[in-house]
Amino acid sequence: MKLWVDVDTGVDDAQAIMLALSHPNVDILGISCCHGNTPLHNVLENTLTVLGVCDRLDIPVYKGCERPLLARKQHASDYHGKDGLGDVPDLVRPSLELLQKKKAPQAMIQAVKKHPGEVTLVATAPLTNLAVAVQLDPSFPKKLKALFLMGGNVDSRGNTTVCGEFNFVADTEAAYIVLDRFTCPTYIAAWEFSCASSLPWSFCDQWLSQCTPKAQFMKKITAVSRNSEDYQKEITAGKGFNSCDCYAMAAALDPTLMLENEEVAVSVELEGAHTRGMMVVDYMKLLNKKHKVSLMKKFDLTKFQVMLLKSLQ
Ligand code: BDR
Repeated sequence: MKLWVDVDTGVDDAQAIMLALSHPNVDILGISCCHGNTPLHNVLENTLTVLGVCDRLDIPVYKGCERPLLARKQHASDYHGKDGLGDVPDLVRPSLELLQKKKAPQAMIQAVKKHPGEVTLVATAPLTNLAVAVQLDPSFPKKLKALFLMGGNVDSRGNTTVCGEFNFVADTEAAYIVLDRFTCPTYIAAWEFSCASSLPWSFCDQWLSQCTPKAQFMKKITAVSRNSEDYQKEITAGKGFNSCDCYAMAAALDPTLMLENEEVAVSVELEGAHTRGMMVVDYMKLLNKKHKVSLMKKFDLTKFQVMLLKSLQ
């Protein structure tokens, strides 16, 4: 399968990239980087670092948007560390000279044009690069095989604002544009879905204790997030290990993991003192929107764990 990945690497983006790299018959045409979990220059470095660990620096990496379309820039360093990858001092950092010269939205458009109907796009970042791509080429989404994204929420439960999930809050206008203009088959792993599909911590320990360089790398970069105050609170409250970006990636790699989806029209709240960035789910079919997305509801967690284990071997 042909894949394009849009990331803001980020600990769980790193996990998602490694998932894709370990899956058979996947041709990653390119990885585009976006502002998000950490500033763009860190995202670029982190993406190359992950590819370096996996010995896949042959995959082209593109520089995307440095800031949201209109929203205020924000990052998630409490969870991902200041550098976005757990602030580990001794990581091997490949040279930024390896970056492609072309800009991410243009590169995405070109790759998809070359393989119309064949490319699956997985987006685990704020959706700025995708929104710019559709403005540059309105026919871009129609040429995609499918879009899988991590973002939004279905029960107005936020993780960044009261009602907003990080990727949709970090570029609300871009999220609105993508949900409005991407009429290709679209699958969404929303925040509450990933929380409800979290894995036992005993699995996480097993995953990280595999004696491989990839597992050792993962153990180092996850230490900051696992020790963060928020995470400790969640662990104490009985919540499991939640690698949210991996649900979107795993579903793209193997759609049989999606045991149950709900087809519904969605949009994004652009205004509202407390609700800006919230995904609006039209359960009552009042929006008159023809295009429906598939909201993931139930996942095959057994297969998912096997996939995760393999990704660090
Ligand atoms: C999303 O925000 C980021 O912190 C994660 O990488 C994920 O994409 C979860 O809200």
